[in-house]
Amino acid sequence: VININLSWFVKLILKKYFVKSIKSNNYQIEIGSILNSSFQTLLSNDYNKSKKVIIVDENTKEYCLEYLITSFTELSDAEIIELPSGEENKQLDICIQIWEVFTEYCFDRNILVINLGGGVISDMGGLIASLYKRGVHFVNIPTTLLSMVDASIGGKTGVDLGVYKNQVGLFSFPKRVFIDTIFLTTLEANQIKNGIAEMLKHGLIVDASHWNEVLKCYQSTHSITDDLIYQSVCIKNEIVEKDPLEKNIRKKLNFGHTVGHALESYFLEKENHILHGYGVAVGILIESYISFKLGLLEQGSFYEVRGAIHQIFEKVNFAKEEISKIIEIMRNDKKNENGQIKMILLKSIGICLIDQSVSESQINEALHWYLNDY
Ligand code: GLY
Repeated sequence: VININLSWFVKLILKKYFVKSIKSNNYQIEIGSILNSSFQTLLSNDYNKSKKVIIVDENTKEYCLEYLITSFTELSDAEIIELPSGEENKQLDICIQIWEVFTEYCFDRNILVINLGGGVISDMGGLIASLYKRGVHFVNIPTTLLSMVDASIGGKTGVDLGVYKNQVGLFSFPKRVFIDTIFLTTLEANQIKNGIAEMLKHGLIVDASHWNEVLKCYQSTHSITDDLIYQSVCIKNEIVEKDPLEKNIRKKLNFGHTVGHALESYFLEKENHILHGYGVAVGILIESYISFKLGLLEQGSFYEVRGAIHQIFEKVNFAKEEISKIIEIMRNDKKNENGQIKMILLKSIGICLIDQSVSESQINEALHWYLNDY
Protein backbone atom coordinates (compact mmCIF):
# COMPACT_ATOMS: atom_id res chain seq x y z
CA VAL A 1 0.00 0.00 0.00
CA ILE A 2 2.84 2.33 0.90
CA ASN A 3 4.48 1.62 -2.46
CA ILE A 4 1.32 2.40 -4.37
CA ASN A 5 0.78 5.61 -2.46
CA LEU A 6 4.38 6.62 -2.92
CA SER A 7 4.33 6.10 -6.66
CA TRP A 8 1.06 8.04 -6.89
CA PHE A 9 2.64 10.83 -4.84
CA VAL A 10 5.79 10.89 -6.97
CA LYS A 11 3.68 11.07 -10.13
CA LEU A 12 1.72 13.99 -8.71
CA ILE A 13 4.90 15.86 -7.80
CA LEU A 14 6.43 15.16 -11.21
CA LYS A 15 3.29 16.35 -12.95
CA LYS A 16 3.22 19.51 -10.90
CA TYR A 17 6.87 20.42 -11.18
CA PHE A 18 8.17 18.75 -14.28
CA VAL A 19 7.77 20.71 -17.49
CA LYS A 20 8.59 18.91 -20.72
CA SER A 21 10.20 20.94 -23.42
CA ILE A 22 10.03 20.28 -27.15
CA LYS A 23 12.25 22.07 -29.63
CA SER A 24 10.41 23.42 -32.66
CA ASN A 25 11.28 25.75 -35.54
CA ASN A 26 13.40 28.31 -33.64
CA TYR A 27 11.10 28.23 -30.67
CA GLN A 28 10.19 26.03 -27.78
CA ILE A 29 6.98 24.29 -26.78
CA GLU A 30 6.65 23.65 -23.04
CA ILE A 31 4.14 21.19 -21.62
CA GLY A 32 3.39 21.24 -17.92
CA SER A 33 2.31 23.72 -15.29
CA ILE A 34 2.87 27.23 -16.63
CA LEU A 35 3.82 28.18 -13.08
CA ASN A 36 6.98 26.08 -13.43
CA SER A 37 7.65 26.88 -17.07
CA SER A 38 10.00 29.49 -18.50
CA PHE A 39 7.09 31.94 -18.79
CA GLN A 40 8.23 33.62 -15.57
CA THR A 41 11.77 34.30 -16.83
CA LEU A 42 10.43 35.30 -20.21
CA LEU A 43 8.32 38.00 -18.56
CA SER A 44 10.87 39.17 -16.03
CA ASN A 45 14.03 38.91 -18.15
CA ASP A 46 13.55 38.75 -21.92
CA TYR A 47 10.48 41.01 -22.02
CA ASN A 48 11.10 42.91 -18.81
CA LYS A 49 10.68 46.31 -20.44
CA SER A 50 7.99 45.32 -22.91
CA LYS A 51 4.35 46.21 -22.61
CA LYS A 52 2.40 42.97 -22.25
CA VAL A 53 -0.79 42.65 -24.26
CA ILE A 54 -3.04 39.69 -23.49
CA ILE A 55 -5.54 38.71 -26.17
CA VAL A 56 -8.59 36.86 -24.83
CA ASP A 57 -12.18 36.12 -25.81
CA GLU A 58 -15.17 36.37 -23.49
CA ASN A 59 -14.65 32.78 -22.32
CA THR A 60 -10.94 32.92 -21.55
CA LYS A 61 -11.48 36.34 -19.97
CA GLU A 62 -13.95 34.77 -17.57
CA TYR A 63 -12.28 31.41 -16.89
CA CYS A 64 -8.53 31.67 -17.56
CA LEU A 65 -7.32 35.26 -17.31
CA GLU A 66 -7.43 35.65 -13.55
CA TYR A 67 -5.31 32.53 -13.06
CA LEU A 68 -2.66 33.98 -15.34
CA ILE A 69 -2.63 37.50 -13.97
CA THR A 70 -2.64 36.51 -10.32
CA SER A 71 0.15 34.00 -10.92
CA PHE A 72 2.52 36.45 -12.62
CA THR A 73 2.91 39.92 -11.07
CA GLU A 74 4.54 41.15 -14.31
CA LEU A 75 1.07 40.91 -15.87
CA SER A 76 -0.66 43.10 -13.33
CA ASP A 77 -0.56 46.11 -15.67
CA ALA A 78 -0.97 44.15 -18.92
CA GLU A 79 -3.44 45.51 -21.47
CA ILE A 80 -6.31 43.11 -22.04
CA ILE A 81 -7.74 42.97 -25.55
CA GLU A 82 -10.96 41.01 -25.97
CA LEU A 83 -11.90 39.43 -29.29
CA PRO A 84 -15.36 37.98 -29.90
CA SER A 85 -15.24 34.17 -29.72
CA GLY A 86 -16.22 31.84 -32.57
CA GLU A 87 -15.02 31.01 -36.07
CA GLU A 88 -17.58 33.43 -37.53
CA ASN A 89 -15.55 36.27 -35.99
CA LYS A 90 -12.19 35.16 -37.39
CA GLN A 91 -12.31 37.98 -39.92
CA LEU A 92 -9.98 40.71 -41.10
CA ASP A 93 -12.28 43.57 -40.04
CA ILE A 94 -11.88 42.48 -36.40
CA CYS A 95 -8.08 42.52 -36.84
CA ILE A 96 -8.30 46.06 -38.24
CA GLN A 97 -10.23 47.18 -35.16
CA ILE A 98 -7.52 45.67 -32.93
CA TRP A 99 -4.71 47.35 -34.91
CA GLU A 100 -6.58 50.63 -34.43
CA VAL A 101 -6.70 50.04 -30.68
CA PHE A 102 -2.95 49.18 -30.67
CA THR A 103 -2.32 52.43 -32.53
CA GLU A 104 -4.50 54.45 -30.15
CA TYR A 105 -2.51 53.03 -27.22
CA CYS A 106 0.75 53.87 -29.07
CA PHE A 107 2.02 50.30 -28.69
CA ASP A 108 5.59 50.13 -29.95
CA ARG A 109 7.41 47.27 -31.66
CA ASN A 110 8.69 45.88 -28.35
CA ILE A 111 5.32 44.74 -27.01
CA LEU A 112 4.77 41.09 -26.21
CA VAL A 113 1.41 39.73 -27.36
CA ILE A 114 0.13 36.83 -25.26
CA ASN A 115 -2.58 34.80 -27.01
CA LEU A 116 -4.70 33.19 -24.30
CA GLY A 117 -7.38 31.01 -25.87
CA GLY A 118 -8.36 28.43 -28.44
CA GLY A 119 -7.60 28.17 -32.13
CA VAL A 120 -9.38 31.37 -33.14
CA ILE A 121 -7.28 33.36 -30.66
CA SER A 122 -3.93 31.87 -31.72
CA ASP A 123 -4.77 32.13 -35.45
CA MET A 124 -6.03 35.69 -35.26
CA GLY A 125 -3.81 36.91 -32.40
CA GLY A 126 -0.79 35.52 -34.25
CA LEU A 127 -1.81 37.37 -37.41
CA ILE A 128 -2.48 40.60 -35.52
CA ALA A 129 0.97 40.43 -33.87
CA SER A 130 2.77 39.38 -37.06
CA LEU A 131 1.46 42.27 -39.16
CA TYR A 132 1.40 45.09 -36.57
CA LYS A 133 4.27 47.46 -37.38
CA ARG A 134 5.68 44.63 -39.56
CA GLY A 135 5.69 42.18 -36.69
CA VAL A 136 5.90 42.04 -32.90
CA HIS A 137 6.68 39.02 -30.75
CA PHE A 138 3.94 36.74 -29.50
CA VAL A 139 3.52 33.64 -27.35
CA ASN A 140 0.61 31.19 -27.34
CA ILE A 141 -1.07 29.85 -24.24
CA PRO A 142 -3.67 27.43 -25.62
CA THR A 143 -6.71 26.82 -23.43
CA THR A 144 -8.59 24.20 -25.49
CA LEU A 145 -7.55 20.66 -26.37
CA LEU A 146 -7.78 21.50 -30.07
CA SER A 147 -5.41 24.43 -29.77
CA MET A 148 -3.03 22.48 -27.50
CA VAL A 149 -2.53 19.62 -29.95
CA ASP A 150 -2.91 21.58 -33.17
CA ALA A 151 -3.68 25.28 -33.67
CA SER A 152 -1.20 26.86 -31.24
CA ILE A 153 1.79 24.97 -32.64
CA GLY A 154 3.20 25.11 -36.14
CA GLY A 155 3.10 28.82 -36.93
CA LYS A 156 -0.09 29.01 -38.98
CA THR A 157 -1.82 32.35 -38.45
CA GLY A 158 -4.74 33.73 -40.40
CA VAL A 159 -8.36 34.68 -40.80
CA ASP A 160 -11.26 33.43 -42.89
CA LEU A 161 -12.43 35.37 -45.94
CA GLY A 162 -16.20 35.22 -45.81
CA VAL A 163 -16.73 31.51 -45.24
CA TYR A 164 -13.42 30.43 -46.80
CA LYS A 165 -11.29 29.09 -43.97
CA ASN A 166 -7.85 30.62 -43.32
CA GLN A 167 -7.87 32.14 -46.80
CA VAL A 168 -5.71 35.09 -45.68
CA GLY A 169 -2.75 34.55 -43.39
CA LEU A 170 0.92 33.80 -43.04
CA PHE A 171 3.31 31.36 -41.48
CA SER A 172 4.69 33.14 -38.43
CA PHE A 173 6.14 31.33 -35.46
CA PRO A 174 5.49 32.25 -31.84
CA LYS A 175 8.39 32.93 -29.47
CA ARG A 176 7.17 30.13 -27.22
CA VAL A 177 4.10 27.98 -26.56
CA PHE A 178 3.01 27.04 -23.05
CA ILE A 179 0.65 24.07 -22.84
CA ASP A 180 -0.86 23.76 -19.37
CA THR A 181 -3.68 21.24 -19.13
CA ILE A 182 -5.08 22.99 -16.06
CA PHE A 183 -7.09 25.05 -18.55
CA LEU A 184 -8.88 21.95 -19.85
CA THR A 185 -10.84 21.76 -16.60
CA THR A 186 -12.82 24.78 -17.78
CA LEU A 187 -14.05 23.04 -20.96
CA GLU A 188 -17.32 21.39 -21.90
CA ALA A 189 -17.40 17.80 -23.25
CA ASN A 190 -17.89 18.83 -26.88
CA GLN A 191 -14.65 20.82 -26.69
CA ILE A 192 -12.76 17.69 -25.68
CA LYS A 193 -14.22 15.81 -28.68
CA ASN A 194 -13.22 18.80 -30.80
CA GLY A 195 -9.58 18.15 -29.94
CA ILE A 196 -9.82 14.35 -30.01
CA ALA A 197 -10.56 14.52 -33.76
CA GLU A 198 -7.15 16.12 -34.42
CA MET A 199 -5.40 13.64 -32.11
CA LEU A 200 -6.99 10.72 -33.95
CA LYS A 201 -5.91 12.32 -37.21
CA HIS A 202 -2.29 12.43 -35.98
CA GLY A 203 -2.49 8.69 -35.31
CA LEU A 204 -4.12 7.86 -38.63
CA ILE A 205 -1.57 9.72 -40.75
CA VAL A 206 1.68 8.59 -39.14
CA ASP A 207 1.35 6.58 -35.94
CA ALA A 208 -1.01 3.61 -35.56
CA SER A 209 -0.17 3.18 -31.87
CA HIS A 210 -1.22 6.78 -31.15
CA TRP A 211 -4.54 6.07 -32.89
CA ASN A 212 -5.04 3.00 -30.69
CA GLU A 213 -4.03 4.69 -27.46
CA VAL A 214 -6.13 7.83 -27.98
CA LEU A 215 -9.16 5.69 -28.83
CA LYS A 216 -8.68 3.37 -25.88
CA CYS A 217 -8.24 6.23 -23.45
CA TYR A 218 -11.17 8.27 -24.73
CA GLN A 219 -13.52 5.28 -24.97
CA SER A 220 -12.87 4.23 -21.39
CA THR A 221 -12.62 7.62 -19.64
CA HIS A 222 -14.20 10.20 -21.99
CA SER A 223 -11.14 12.28 -21.42
CA ILE A 224 -7.49 12.26 -22.39
CA THR A 225 -4.21 12.01 -20.50
CA ASP A 226 -1.42 14.57 -20.43
CA ASP A 227 0.93 11.92 -21.85
CA LEU A 228 -1.24 11.48 -24.94
CA ILE A 229 -1.41 15.24 -25.41
CA TYR A 230 2.38 15.31 -25.24
CA GLN A 231 2.61 12.50 -27.83
CA SER A 232 0.20 14.28 -30.16
CA VAL A 233 2.15 17.52 -29.94
CA CYS A 234 5.38 15.61 -30.69
CA ILE A 235 3.81 14.01 -33.77
CA LYS A 236 2.66 17.31 -35.20
CA ASN A 237 5.89 19.07 -34.26
CA GLU A 238 8.07 16.48 -35.95
CA ILE A 239 6.20 16.98 -39.22
CA VAL A 240 6.22 20.78 -38.98
CA GLU A 241 9.95 20.87 -38.18
CA LYS A 242 10.71 19.00 -41.40
CA ASP A 243 8.39 21.07 -43.59
CA PRO A 244 7.37 24.31 -41.85
CA LEU A 245 5.93 25.98 -44.96
CA GLU A 246 3.83 23.00 -46.09
CA LYS A 247 5.57 22.32 -49.36
CA ASN A 248 5.49 18.59 -48.85
CA ILE A 249 4.91 16.30 -45.87
CA ARG A 250 3.13 18.92 -43.74
CA LYS A 251 0.22 18.42 -46.12
CA LYS A 252 -0.37 15.15 -44.23
CA LEU A 253 -1.77 17.21 -41.37
CA ASN A 254 -4.63 18.17 -43.66
CA PHE A 255 -6.05 14.65 -43.75
CA GLY A 256 -9.81 14.96 -43.15
CA HIS A 257 -9.67 18.68 -43.80
CA THR A 258 -10.70 18.89 -47.47
CA VAL A 259 -14.17 17.68 -46.55
CA GLY A 260 -13.96 18.96 -42.96
CA HIS A 261 -13.18 22.57 -43.90
CA ALA A 262 -15.81 22.59 -46.65
CA LEU A 263 -18.49 21.43 -44.21
CA GLU A 264 -17.37 23.91 -41.57
CA SER A 265 -17.47 26.70 -44.17
CA TYR A 266 -20.86 25.60 -45.43
CA PHE A 267 -22.34 25.66 -41.94
CA LEU A 268 -20.75 29.05 -41.18
CA GLU A 269 -23.30 30.60 -43.52
CA LYS A 270 -26.15 28.94 -41.67
CA GLU A 271 -27.51 29.19 -38.14
CA ASN A 272 -26.14 25.86 -36.93
CA HIS A 273 -22.33 26.14 -37.02
CA ILE A 274 -20.22 23.05 -36.44
CA LEU A 275 -17.02 22.88 -34.41
CA HIS A 276 -13.82 22.38 -36.41
CA GLY A 277 -13.13 18.95 -34.88
CA TYR A 278 -16.61 17.72 -35.75
CA GLY A 279 -16.06 18.73 -39.38
CA VAL A 280 -12.66 17.00 -39.32
CA ALA A 281 -14.26 13.83 -37.90
CA VAL A 282 -16.68 13.71 -40.85
CA GLY A 283 -13.73 14.46 -43.14
CA ILE A 284 -11.72 11.60 -41.65
CA LEU A 285 -14.61 9.23 -42.28
CA ILE A 286 -15.38 10.37 -45.82
CA GLU A 287 -11.73 10.57 -46.88
CA SER A 288 -11.15 7.08 -45.42
CA TYR A 289 -14.16 5.86 -47.42
CA ILE A 290 -12.67 7.35 -50.60
CA SER A 291 -9.32 5.70 -49.74
CA PHE A 292 -11.15 2.38 -49.38
CA LYS A 293 -13.14 2.80 -52.60
CA LEU A 294 -9.97 3.62 -54.52
CA GLY A 295 -8.41 0.40 -53.30
CA LEU A 296 -5.78 2.08 -51.14
CA LEU A 297 -7.16 1.23 -47.69
CA GLU A 298 -8.21 -2.30 -46.86
CA GLN A 299 -11.74 -2.98 -45.70
CA GLY A 300 -10.85 -4.00 -42.13
CA SER A 301 -8.99 -0.74 -41.47
CA PHE A 302 -11.76 1.29 -43.06
CA TYR A 303 -14.33 -0.40 -40.79
CA GLU A 304 -12.14 0.35 -37.81
CA VAL A 305 -12.07 4.06 -38.66
CA ARG A 306 -15.81 4.05 -39.37
CA GLY A 307 -16.58 2.32 -36.07
CA ALA A 308 -14.51 4.77 -34.03
CA ILE A 309 -15.94 7.91 -35.66
CA HIS A 310 -19.51 6.59 -35.34
CA GLN A 311 -18.95 5.83 -31.69
CA ILE A 312 -17.53 9.22 -30.70
CA PHE A 313 -19.12 11.80 -33.00
CA GLU A 314 -22.76 12.51 -33.69
CA LYS A 315 -23.86 12.69 -37.33
CA VAL A 316 -23.49 16.08 -39.03
CA ASN A 317 -26.70 16.39 -40.99
CA PHE A 318 -27.09 18.07 -44.34
CA ALA A 319 -29.52 17.50 -47.20
CA LYS A 320 -28.62 15.66 -50.40
CA GLU A 321 -29.47 18.86 -52.27
CA GLU A 322 -26.72 20.69 -50.34
CA ILE A 323 -23.92 18.37 -51.47
CA SER A 324 -23.14 20.30 -54.66
CA LYS A 325 -22.67 23.51 -52.66
CA ILE A 326 -20.32 21.72 -50.25
CA ILE A 327 -18.25 20.40 -53.16
CA GLU A 328 -18.16 23.88 -54.69
CA ILE A 329 -16.41 25.14 -51.55
CA MET A 330 -13.77 22.39 -51.95
CA ARG A 331 -12.77 23.91 -55.30
CA ASN A 332 -11.06 26.64 -53.27
CA ASP A 333 -9.13 24.29 -50.98
CA LYS A 334 -5.52 25.40 -50.48
CA LYS A 335 -4.10 22.00 -51.43
CA ASN A 336 -5.64 21.99 -54.92
CA GLU A 337 -3.44 22.23 -58.00
CA ASN A 338 -4.31 23.03 -61.62
CA GLY A 339 -8.02 23.06 -60.86
CA GLN A 340 -7.91 19.54 -59.39
CA ILE A 341 -9.13 18.72 -55.90
CA LYS A 342 -6.24 17.14 -54.00
CA MET A 343 -6.67 15.12 -50.84
CA ILE A 344 -4.61 13.21 -48.35
CA LEU A 345 -5.68 9.57 -48.48
CA LEU A 346 -5.00 6.65 -46.17
CA LYS A 347 -2.96 3.64 -47.22
CA SER A 348 -3.34 2.02 -43.83
CA ILE A 349 -3.84 3.18 -40.27
CA GLY A 350 -0.62 5.10 -39.66
CA ILE A 351 0.35 5.67 -43.31
CA CYS A 352 -1.06 8.29 -45.69
CA LEU A 353 -0.44 9.62 -49.17
CA ILE A 354 -0.37 13.33 -50.04
CA ASP A 355 -1.40 15.08 -53.29
CA GLN A 356 -4.01 12.52 -54.36
CA SER A 357 -6.37 13.76 -57.09
CA VAL A 358 -9.99 12.96 -56.34
CA SER A 359 -12.78 13.66 -58.81
CA GLU A 360 -15.91 15.59 -57.89
CA SER A 361 -18.04 12.56 -58.73
CA GLN A 362 -16.07 10.44 -56.25
CA ILE A 363 -16.59 13.08 -53.55
CA ASN A 364 -20.27 13.36 -54.45
CA GLU A 365 -20.72 9.60 -54.10
CA ALA A 366 -18.86 9.59 -50.76
CA LEU A 367 -21.03 12.38 -49.32
CA HIS A 368 -24.18 10.47 -50.34
CA TRP A 369 -22.75 7.32 -48.76
CA TYR A 370 -22.12 9.26 -45.51
CA LEU A 371 -25.75 10.43 -45.34
CA ASN A 372 -27.14 6.95 -45.90
CA ASP A 373 -24.65 5.07 -43.74
CA TYR A 374 -24.69 7.01 -40.45
N1 GLY B 1 -3.58 22.17 -38.83
C1 GLY B 1 -2.68 21.66 -39.77
C2 GLY B 1 -1.33 22.32 -39.77
O1 GLY B 1 -1.03 23.08 -38.87
O2 GLY B 1 -0.58 22.14 -40.67
